[in-house]
Amino acid sequence: MSTESVASTSSWTQRLQDVMPFGSSTSSKAPSLEPEEPSVIVRGKGCRVWDDRDREFIDFRNGLGPVTLGYAFPAVNEAIRKQLDSGCVYGHPHPLECEVAEMLRDVIPCAEQVRFLKTGGEALAACIKIARAYTGREHVIQVGYNGWLNSLSAGGRVLPGQSSATNIAPPGVPEALSALHHTCAWNDVVAMKNVFEQFDNQIAAVVVAADYAQMSAGEAYYPAIRALTQKHGAVLIFDEIVTGFRIACAGAQEYFEVTPDMAVYAKGMANGMPLSAYVGKRDLMQTIKRAVISTTYGGEALSLAAAKATLQTYDRENVVDFLWAQGESFWTRANQIMKDRNVGAKLEGFWPCPMWSFEGLDAQQFFRACYKHGLSLYNVSYVNFSHKDTDVEDALKRFEKVADELRPA
Ligand SMILES: Cc1ncc(COP(=O)(O)O)c(C=O)c1O
Repeated sequence: MSTESVASTSSWTQRLQDVMPFGSSTSSKAPSLEPEEPSVIVRGKGCRVWDDRDREFIDFRNGLGPVTLGYAFPAVNEAIRKQLDSGCVYGHPHPLECEVAEMLRDVIPCAEQVRFLKTGGEALAACIKIARAYTGREHVIQVGYNGWLNSLSAGGRVLPGQSSATNIAPPGVPEALSALHHTCAWNDVVAMKNVFEQFDNQIAAVVVAADYAQMSAGEAYYPAIRALTQKHGAVLIFDEIVTGFRIACAGAQEYFEVTPDMAVYAKGMANGMPLSAYVGKRDLMQTIKRAVISTTYGGEALSLAAAKATLQTYDRENVVDFLWAQGESFWTRANQIMKDRNVGAKLEGFWPCPMWSFEGLDAQQFFRACYKHGLSLYNVSYVNFSHKDTDVEDALKRFEKVADELRPA
């Protein structure tokens, strides 16, 4: 580590970088904007988090997505505590495994059957395996980032905002495996048609994660790819890891009224507890009986207790409507603050999960100024159910300070 980085990073960052690559187990969580950015978060409550220096931030990172109700949300914490007293994993299914699966089946159009895993990427890998076994085909088309396990094609997304080199398999991926995965850009139906033509009768599945800034294009795009996959006999899989429990409970398939064959949910389902679900048509899901997918922790009960409490809160409190309304009121006012001061930062996309875009302003400079004034943001910034009106007013005052500091002379 250089002398400069030693001087500008905290002792936690130095220790983390020493003990693990990236200084974090999640690539996008490692701080790069210290000393303004927190090096570690030690606690969170509602929509606020505190670092090791007891600095408070109004948080819009939400654990990079999964915290939709708020940190340490009472109803979810209570459910986890209660379950903990009875154990967290057993040698047989717990009733919660059935109850939460039924709750998902009741709200997700394509979910005739449901099964649980721990991470989104793993659940998408499960869908891809099922689609291959079901169709007897090997090739897969991917749109957007579908988790590190599935970042296999040359030129595909290896992280949400980062693509691999277009002429070679990503490092660590055998060429033979990489050649079976094809990347198409969001909303490029022509490119997808071309891959279907080039690999006639060989495409097992199309996996699609929406582009947050351009999500409204889904209106025409989803029906088009539904028709295309039906025409070619490929399984259509929606990656609802960000859209699920944000733009609608069932995500893009509910919002755009296009039913895929399978889908994956993770962030948003258990307010931050590690739980993913892969769901789909019964005959596809039954393929698991021969294409094995299994893990010891699939029915882990603390996360399922959290999911049950989270889903009940969504139902009782109409959380999705809140995320839309509070997101719209807050982000449009934040955009106006930037515009009034000629600061080239604005949010685009759907209000529960909009994306920052920049013009004539360095993104790092913007995020650094936000941390300095007590706002913790991410490229995709989310309001959660605990961003109440007083928090919004507080955050807007902080945005004013950011904009005043960044406004051109
Ligand atoms: C759209 C999308 N798909 C898949 C994933 C991977 O999910 P996980 O990190 O739980 O494996 C992510 C995570 O950021 C995501 O945003």
